[in-house]
Amino acid sequence: MTIQDQLESTIKALVQDGKGILAADESSPTIAKRFAAINVESTEENRRAYRSLILSTPDLGQYINGVILFEETLGQRDEQGTPLPDVAERQGIVPGIKVDKGKVALANAPGDEITRGLDGLEARLEGYIEQGARFAKWRCVYHIGGHNPGRLAVEANANVLASYAAICQAQGVVPIVEPEVLIDGDHTIERCADVMEDVLHEVFHALHRHRVSLEHMLLKPSMVTPGKDHRPQATPEQVADYTLRIFRRTVPAAVPGINFLSGGQTPEEATRNLNAINCLSDRPWNLSFSYGRALQEPALKAWQGNPGQVQAAQQALFHRARMNGLAVQGEYGDTAEKDASWEL
Ligand code: 13P
Repeated sequence: MTIQDQLESTIKALVQDGKGILAADESSPTIAKRFAAINVESTEENRRAYRSLILSTPDLGQYINGVILFEETLGQRDEQGTPLPDVAERQGIVPGIKVDKGKVALANAPGDEITRGLDGLEARLEGYIEQGARFAKWRCVYHIGGHNPGRLAVEANANVLASYAAICQAQGVVPIVEPEVLIDGDHTIERCADVMEDVLHEVFHALHRHRVSLEHMLLKPSMVTPGKDHRPQATPEQVADYTLRIFRRTVPAAVPGINFLSGGQTPEEATRNLNAINCLSDRPWNLSFSYGRALQEPALKAWQGNPGQVQAAQQALFHRARMNGLAVQGEYGDTAEKDASWEL
């Protein structure tokens, strides 16, 4: 297959109506935090057991078409000795890989951060491809507060996102470009909309400068919402209105799909907002999810590190995946949320 064919077939697999992406790429400190909340120690074996449980959830491929993994998971195996990327692939779920190396303070930009990981990325990607990864993810974050994010942060992060995306495409790996405007703070939804508009304009300018093929990438943004400490919070219809208004102004129609992150929304909130977004018309892109916490939180709570609870955890994950699959089609509601007839 040529590089072009590889990019096209991966995009086709990742953009399917009624399906979305599972983000299971928590870095070591982040997964330790998630495990601490359920009193599970973050050992390599516990991480392997948990991620193996997730990827082997029966029929998960009905609603999930891609999974973002952390580097360690690419090299792990299930109880039968099958590499975890193959466990996903067997379910029709494309394995992907988080390739950024996390964020650090941006020099001369107090309060802003930049994401590292470009050095040696080409060589790392070669290894990830050999282990089965077909797409990648890179996250940049933007804090809202006072003068943040400043111009320097908006421009510098757009440049690293675009460099990363160009490097991935050169190797036939579909890049997920993730600019996350953080939900922390008490800012209004209007302020979030202004920041998001600036951030996305800059990201797409940079992608253009770096000659990234928009047809062969996915955007993974946050939704436009008020800060989590702002009262009142917005209704799903308001979130949908603001989000689509900003995206229509900034995201070219050539981008095949936008897969939202959940960014601290509760699982049901993230589903309700996605559903409201998909109830609006006039959108050239497939609008779906790439949730981490909003898909996994109920599964982690059900599991508690107990092998006897594996099925309950899989059930919880499958339920959230199914609810979000409905939200992608604008068909989610209370009846579906409470319907237990589909249980595994
Ligand atoms: P959340 O949905 O928990 O925000 O995670 C998505 C993600 O991949 C963050 O990089």
